Amino acid sequence: MPISERVKKLKSSATIAISTKSKEMQAEGIDVINFSIGEPDFQTPQNIKSAAKKAIDENYTHYTATAGMLELRNAICGKFKKDNNLDYCPENIMVSSGAKNCIMNILLAICNYKDEVLLPIPFWVSYYSQIIMTDAIPKFIEPEGDDFKISTKNIEKNISSKVKAIIINSPNNPTGIVYTRMELEEIAKLAIKHDLTVISDEIYEKLIYDKTEHISIASLPKMKARTVVINGVSKAYAMTGWRLGYAAGPEKIIKSALKIQGHSTSCANSITQRAVISALLEKDDSVEKMRQEFEKRRNFLIEKLNSIPNIKCAIPKGAFYAMPNVSYYLEQNKKGVKTSANLCDFLLENYHIALVPGSAFGIEGFVRFSYANSMENIKKGVKRFEKGLKNLLD
Ligand SMILES: Cc1ncc(COP(=O)(O)O)c(C=O)c1O
Repeated sequence: MPISERVKKLKSSATIAISTKSKEMQAEGIDVINFSIGEPDFQTPQNIKSAAKKAIDENYTHYTATAGMLELRNAICGKFKKDNNLDYCPENIMVSSGAKNCIMNILLAICNYKDEVLLPIPFWVSYYSQIIMTDAIPKFIEPEGDDFKISTKNIEKNISSKVKAIIINSPNNPTGIVYTRMELEEIAKLAIKHDLTVISDEIYEKLIYDKTEHISIASLPKMKARTVVINGVSKAYAMTGWRLGYAAGPEKIIKSALKIQGHSTSCANSITQRAVISALLEKDDSVEKMRQEFEKRRNFLIEKLNSIPNIKCAIPKGAFYAMPNVSYYLEQNKKGVKTSANLCDFLLENYHIALVPGSAFGIEGFVRFSYANSMENIKKGVKRFEKGLKNLLD
């Protein structure tokens, strides 16, 4: 059976491998604490579920417009105006089966064979694979300093005539960092100077802490015309399984991406689309309650991690991830645990905690914790983490 060269270049997902292994261990009766989860451990708010049930009863069960129902796209435009002070019209919006699907459609719409896409390290795993799937080339940008942010110097070093776009993800998976207005202004200047399209993934916008301000790079002067904003409901409304994301950008790019969508998925799920209209238009405090709970967990986890000898963890300002630096333990142990992947295996097998190695996100010397887990499990799990690290050096 022939397999394409494109697919041969793809790596299978490290997060799925870890999650599968920890589920197998749980099935054997082992109490594994799973810190590798990439979705909120909350339920979809009731008003959204009711809207979906109503949608079925009212027979919203057919194909919709490829770009999504007009009423939904209007609601999305309203969200952009309210949250980001961005003026879009429905022609600027594409509703897809998840933010992941939006990014794929946009990359396919803008990239040619061997074009380059700037990808800051550490990166969410699917960006890398999706760039490969479009036959473009990911061009990595090294982070600078302890907070993982990219500098304009490192961006500029990688710019050539082949570079088409840059991906910005703030709040970030896997680090939780959030770019400030000033930092985004610097990136914007470069995007304008080098005529780059910016793909700005803002899916964790609603999960943001310490009263940090979320800025959409599209809202900066002259940026709306060259930015595609990616957002969705998976993280904000605990709707990962409903599969709906949306992109907002220049009509020419959205129209082109819709050609791809029209011939691949046709449109996002019609029932979900109706439910998301309710999510965006109706007031409900469950999103804020979820955010507050994440903030409590983050505060606890970061304090505990930073109290472990020789562990340093940058304070995440958003999302539900933390990336402590574990390089001291990798360098000092005599048990052959040399990489972040070795460490994750060691901790899963011996201390029954599932973490994702930094190498999955393009960076060594770090592991990713997801705090989409109960406070009780976080307390137990972080103790196991500390014990495991101590044991490595014994
Ligand atoms: C940074 C980032 N973007 C996009 C997605 C995908 O979101 P969706 O469920 O809407 O496809 C994820 C999911 O983990 C993510 O972490």
